[in-house]
Amino acid sequence: MNEKRVTFASKIGVVAAAAGSAVGLGNIWRFPSQTADGGGAIFILVYIGCILFFGIPLMVSEFLVGRSSRANTAGAFHKLAPGTPWKWVGRLGVLTGFVIMGFYMVVCGWTLDYLIQAVAGQLHTETDFAGRFTALQNNPLRQIVWMIAFTLLTAFFIISGVKKGIEQSAKILMPMLFLLLLILAIRAITLEGASGGLAFLFKPTMEHVKPTVFLDAMGQAFFSLSIGMGCMITYGSYFNNHTNLTKTAIQVSVLDTLVAILAGIIIFPSAFALTANSATIVDELVAGGPGLLFITLPGLFNQMPASMVWAAMFFCLLALAALTSTISLMEVVTLYIHEEYLLSRRKSTLLVTAGVIVLGIISSFSSSFFNFLDITSAKFMLPAGGFFICLFVGWYLDKKLVHDLSMD
Ligand code: PHE
Repeated sequence: MNEKRVTFASKIGVVAAAAGSAVGLGNIWRFPSQTADGGGAIFILVYIGCILFFGIPLMVSEFLVGRSSRANTAGAFHKLAPGTPWKWVGRLGVLTGFVIMGFYMVVCGWTLDYLIQAVAGQLHTETDFAGRFTALQNNPLRQIVWMIAFTLLTAFFIISGVKKGIEQSAKILMPMLFLLLLILAIRAITLEGASGGLAFLFKPTMEHVKPTVFLDAMGQAFFSLSIGMGCMITYGSYFNNHTNLTKTAIQVSVLDTLVAILAGIIIFPSAFALTANSATIVDELVAGGPGLLFITLPGLFNQMPASMVWAAMFFCLLALAALTSTISLMEVVTLYIHEEYLLSRRKSTLLVTAGVIVLGIISSFSSSFFNFLDITSAKFMLPAGGFFICLFVGWYLDKKLVHDLSMD
């Protein structure tokens, strides 16, 4: 099976594919709402600490496990530590990927729904975006249709093969998204009243510290970097022997963090500038919860000439960034079934797709189920998986192997 495994063709493909997995709704949708909840600047500080001290080393570890085993997440542990319980770490990762898809696909569906609304010209006449988002949340059927569409789209890419699907799309789309975010950020900070949002983002105040800030920031860091579940093990298994693992991990993490901070610079200044009552703005941001992005941004677009075009472009690129992440999630679970149970790639994909759709339907009906999947995966499963992967690389694996592999 090893000979048949494909590897990424070019260096830029390696970074682009891993960054494509990392950059997604986690940065643009989840990061702002977690930041609002975590009190702004103080959350961001702890978050950056988590990226530096846990995120980057763990990403290098995952790449290393993947490249030295050239197997799927669960198979990697099986291969490097045959006959030991380490394989359960891989299995936990596969399960985590499945749980994440169970709510992530619903948010992907929202982005498609908003894309259509933007193209149909429904957003630029609206004044009550909170009401508009609530209407979507109260309509499970509408959410389910889009969630299924997105899951099938992901499955299509998985079936059509690794190289063509992932590498090519990521290389073109990521820079486009980045550019668009830059333009939106400039517009947001030049709005009148934007400075309050910038202060909330960058001036830490002790009154905002919450006892859970560390766990929240760590969960967000793991989620955003796609680490702790073996996603980067699967990607590492496609790297060729000349890929510099440490350099790649640093590049991916810097890119990912830049996109998240940019999303913050877009959303908070807009929210502060565009809200009528600035005294209650922080409470409103927290109450916005998972809707924050979808409530705040259409308001910003309406402050720009040709708002329809900006809105359509944004939701289109957002959906594509989400797609490169869902591809990586589905790849982990599919490859596990494909390589461990020897089902064809197609059959494995269809099985995973059906399972994800079932979870997605329940999440669309119940926001508490949605939150349960979100919290369990980001705050518990990913950190637990990350902890065991670190133990595995730092303690179980042969030191020489680790040293040689991470240095070349
Ligand atoms: N990192 C992705 C994002 O930020 C989500 C993800 C998590 C993807 C875990 C793969 C694995 O949107």
